[in-house]
Amino acid sequence: VARFHEQIASDLPQVDLLCRFVERYRGKMLRPSLAVLAASAVRPGAVDVADPVITVGAVIEMIHIATLVHDDVLDDADTRRGGPTINRMHGEEAAVIFGDYLISQSFHLCSGLNDQAIALRVGEVTSTVCAGEMLQLSNRGNADLDEATYFSIIDRKTAALIALACELGARVAGASEADQHRLGSYGRRLGMAFQIQDDLLDITGAEEVVGKPLGKDVEKGKITLPLIHFLRHGPAQERQAMRERIRVEQPLNGSRPALHSRLERAGSIAYARAAAVRLVAEAKAELASFGPSGAKDTLLALADAVIARDH
Ligand code: IPE
Ligand code: IPE
Ligand code: MG
Ligand code: MG
Repeated sequence: VARFHEQIASDLPQVDLLCRFVERYRGKMLRPSLAVLAASAVRPGAVDVADPVITVGAVIEMIHIATLVHDDVLDDADTRRGGPTINRMHGEEAAVIFGDYLISQSFHLCSGLNDQAIALRVGEVTSTVCAGEMLQLSNRGNADLDEATYFSIIDRKTAALIALACELGARVAGASEADQHRLGSYGRRLGMAFQIQDDLLDITGAEEVVGKPLGKDVEKGKITLPLIHFLRHGPAQERQAMRERIRVEQPLNGSRPALHSRLERAGSIAYARAAAVRLVAEAKAELASFGPSGAKDTLLALADAVIARDH
């Protein structure tokens, strides 16, 4: 957190205002936690604040927050992490430019690490994340979206950065290429399961618990895994109504519980859950060759937690 604060601090009061704003609302810190755990799984011993894994964690969390700040503009969202979004408080223009500021600050911080390969990977993966968001945007309202494209979207927009946290955490701890790759694969599968759970929470979650507006995916014509299943296997009449709803981009308002029960009845919720459960099992299997450690146990438990979470 301190590293993050230090990096984004600015002498311009306008910029500082937004920096304090994102610091007030802390998220789950999944990505930095994964970086530290991956490092600890390959190199026993405590991690202190001077450890480069802390910088890696800060770099990745900054990129993540930047994508959230921009994502909230795309989704026209009111709340994030239990507080108002930047777009709501300071306007869309401020949110766009502030997201850019966070991205460039993260690259700046990252290039200070004395391993050029890290900066290379961070740049590469950040582009992948943006490409994923663009792929998603170009498929808005496309009720015929197939599963392969859906997986390719979530792989890019979410799993790639989570995988990178694990890969680079391992790298700075001196892991072999093979172990970096294994931890990266663990993160990638965990990341996809994480996004499927996020997509489920958008339909089934409680807004006060999740801390962000829900029902946005249907409203914005984002076709997620439960919806893909429903659009193919739901009752014919309901399917037709769903296609129409996706086309018009209308807020769900009070009809989210009804949507939830329709998807539940059609087995679409269970279908998406099963996919997430499979990915978690695959993620855990990637850790098989690592020796026993507290960090490994936590990584295994975290994989289960990702799909059991309610926020
Ligand atoms: C939200 O990420 C965006 C997705 C990838 C689903 P998180 O759920 O990790 O957000 P914070 O960091 O905890 O707020
Ligand atoms: C995750 O997708 C966005 C990014 C990876 C930037 P969502 O659009 O589902 O994220 P939330 O639900 O708004 O947090
Ligand atoms: Mg969003
Ligand atoms: Mg979501």
